[in-house]
Amino acid sequence: MQFTYEYYKTSADYIKGIIGDFQPEIGLILGSGLGGYVDRIEDPIVIPYKDIPNFLISTAPGHEGKLLFGTVDGRKVMCMAGRFHSYEGYEFEQLTIPVRVMKIIGIKMLIVTNAAGAINKSYNVGDVMIIKDHIKLTGASPMRGPNIDEFGPRFFDITNMYNKDLRKLAVACAEGSGLTIHEGNYFFFTGPQFETPAEIIAARTLGGDAAGMSTVTEALTAAHCGIPVLGLSLMTNMAAGVLDQPLSGEEVNEAAAKVAPLLEKYFTKIMQNLPKEI
Ligand code: HPA
Repeated sequence: MQFTYEYYKTSADYIKGIIGDFQPEIGLILGSGLGGYVDRIEDPIVIPYKDIPNFLISTAPGHEGKLLFGTVDGRKVMCMAGRFHSYEGYEFEQLTIPVRVMKIIGIKMLIVTNAAGAINKSYNVGDVMIIKDHIKLTGASPMRGPNIDEFGPRFFDITNMYNKDLRKLAVACAEGSGLTIHEGNYFFFTGPQFETPAEIIAARTLGGDAAGMSTVTEALTAAHCGIPVLGLSLMTNMAAGVLDQPLSGEEVNEAAAKVAPLLEKYFTKIMQNLPKEI
């Protein structure tokens, strides 16, 4: 598949035809533990992914597959209920679709959250890591292929892709949240298998603090087209080999459900305090 600006514009035009003059300012791609927040969007305009031309469909368990447009905590959002991952079989280039469509729709900031395994042994299940940076040594770049100049330049800097001001804000909002918050490095793995203990040792040696299978493609796509990103990882388990026990998707979901109320409260505070512009 050769992607062109028009490819993404086809999706965006369809969406604009439905949302009319509603102009979202913030893009949200929320992972485990924030389903309740999505439900708080007031009178949302809901568009199933399957209705959007040139879009993708969610296949991951628990990922719903719809876009919601509406206001929450006084902010106008474009929210994905259900995201796309490489492990579902999508090519890295295809994983550009949601954020590039968000860009054409006109969002000014992107907030991405995910479930992750704690590589850093000082972290605990239920902690939140504000993503300071990431390490991605596997899989292709989502920007592979002919560059689309309308989005950004061929070669682009990602030194500060996880925006400093947004990170600072997320740290400040942690006070009184009841959550333990860290800033750290997200280590991307393609999955769907969890990692081997040896891979986690390697990731820790290289500077990784949390292991996950999402987020990085979305953040890179945003960085390419100049959208500031805030990334949050919820530690749903200690990464492979840290504890002497196998990992499971159920464990991830249970841990996320347990901390969901506190996480939602923390996230609400961040949303209420976001600057109008970065
Ligand atoms: N590894 C990768 N992805 C994850 C994990 C993990 O341990 N937990 C939740 N998502």
